[in-house]
Amino acid sequence: MCGIVGYLGDSNAKDIVLEGLHKLEYRGYDSAGISLYNLEAGVFDMFKDKGRVDHLASLLQDVHGSTVGIGHTRWATHGKVNRANAHPHLSSSKRFIVVHNGVIENYRMLKRDFLSHVRLESETDTEVIVHLIEMFAQTMEAPEAIHETLKLLEGSYALLVLDQQRPNRLIAAKNKSPLLIGRSDRGYIVASDLMALGKHSADYAPLEDYTMTVIERDKLAIYNRDYIEATLAFEPMDFDEDSAERGPYPHFMLKEIMEQPLVVRKILSHYFDEETLVINEAIVHDLRESDRIHILAAGTSMHAGLIGKHLFKILTGKPVEVHIASEFAYNPPALSDKPAFLMISQSGETADLRACMSHIREVNQPVVTLTNVRTSTLAREADHKMELLAGPEIAVASTKAYTAQLVVLTLLAYAVGKQRFNIKQELSTLAHAMETYLAKYERIDTLAKTVLTKPNAFYIGRGLDYAVALEAALKLKEISYIHAEGFAAGELKHGTIALIEENTPVFGIISDKRIALNTRSNLDEVKSRGARTVIIALESLSEEEDDIVLPDVHPLLVPVMTVLPTQLIAYYAALHRGCDIDKPRNLAKSVTVE
Ligand code: F6R
Repeated sequence: MCGIVGYLGDSNAKDIVLEGLHKLEYRGYDSAGISLYNLEAGVFDMFKDKGRVDHLASLLQDVHGSTVGIGHTRWATHGKVNRANAHPHLSSSKRFIVVHNGVIENYRMLKRDFLSHVRLESETDTEVIVHLIEMFAQTMEAPEAIHETLKLLEGSYALLVLDQQRPNRLIAAKNKSPLLIGRSDRGYIVASDLMALGKHSADYAPLEDYTMTVIERDKLAIYNRDYIEATLAFEPMDFDEDSAERGPYPHFMLKEIMEQPLVVRKILSHYFDEETLVINEAIVHDLRESDRIHILAAGTSMHAGLIGKHLFKILTGKPVEVHIASEFAYNPPALSDKPAFLMISQSGETADLRACMSHIREVNQPVVTLTNVRTSTLAREADHKMELLAGPEIAVASTKAYTAQLVVLTLLAYAVGKQRFNIKQELSTLAHAMETYLAKYERIDTLAKTVLTKPNAFYIGRGLDYAVALEAALKLKEISYIHAEGFAAGELKHGTIALIEENTPVFGIISDKRIALNTRSNLDEVKSRGARTVIIALESLSEEEDDIVLPDVHPLLVPVMTVLPTQLIAYYAALHRGCDIDKPRNLAKSVTVE
């Protein structure tokens, strides 16, 4: 979704803002824009267009040194993808320049009540902000005018504002959309994602909701909701630049698939002190005391939640419900006396989950967030957080964050439950088995090419394999655009089997001895109706003709293993179809709108 970067300091703002925008590309966008202070002319210039950041950079070839600038990548929500709707937006007199992430829900009302005399240049909700600032600035100083404007806004915003009359000042404000500020002896950088602060910050701080920050070269002032000066807690920047580089891989997705064994090891070394599993006691206590656990998540993270439910059932015996966040937010179930909530979110910014948070807060029961972004909004709003430690996931399609979710959920369920086995050993064995399998990853290439020739495909499985089938199908459709569905193997015959035609690909996942034969007979059913079946089975359950045979691992860890070939199948299918693998159409890495 939209990305924001701003810089004020002694370095070249053009380079830093463009570099930041490049770093934010992975979030998904359709237009890009920038405003830079032109030292010679003494004004801020603006450049924007639909298309990639590289295209924007080509418009800036003749632009030289600058000390202040703001940039934006837009993911359209209000209005078409075109130049006029791209950010920055200007006030009527061109005095104020604004970039904005988020959604202003009451923008129509604001337009009607305050701006009926103003000619708007775009269809965006953002443009009302810059005109309101200009309106208030007729009678007050710019920071106060911005504060007055913020009081009128309903919805979410991360904003950067420039003022032609005070070129050495950059003003930032936020509510519900992430915004972080980094500083070094060369200046300040403000961005919606840690990734863009990177090497330009010695330390950084996430801005709080309803705060406004006035940045000058030698002064940083923070104002709270009541326009009273507040403070910010900075922490050292510990972002590993290399982990966000593609290295020798052609795509981030492939790199991230291959990193998964490493992620399992990283989680082990973080959550174990020698042989002892160390999980925050308050989390374990709250979950043990609860009478029901509600897992809330979206997309791939929701698929991890389905496996989490199974893990908690086996290891703790507790009743667990899994909810699609966007459903729970407005149609929550009847709750028991002592529920606990587990939010699973790679980004920690998903708007559907934030909408759930408002509801959960009313019942005043514990919330634990499992997230890959320690500083994220959901991590900060929850009572407790657990880090996924997958490292930056740049490809839009989630792979290593999903497996990290499965591993952290296993550790959490193990800690809450009373069953004992050598979980550390089992996880080490898993990491090794994953490595062994991934070493031969290129074998999947031909399979994907020869099997996925039709516009439809199915993944089927039972139990945990069904949960993996859902994730496998999502991965395939989101990056290769082949229509794919995950099905409970036994359910296909109750209607959907009508879609099976000659050579329709049906992938069967077989990892559970109790039901392996049932799934095999479901595969026979579709095969006899023309389907091209592909069997993914654990070695101990495999038969001679099976297509993909995986090393056996502990039964609770099997999904981490079985998902691997399905990620590769999606990757190669997309590769053969010439798709933009890391940035699939219409998708965003962090979905900050409902
Ligand atoms: C798919 C994918 C999405 C996300 C979903 C939730 O590959 O990444 O389905 O899982 O948008 O995002 P998070 O986990 O950030 O809350």
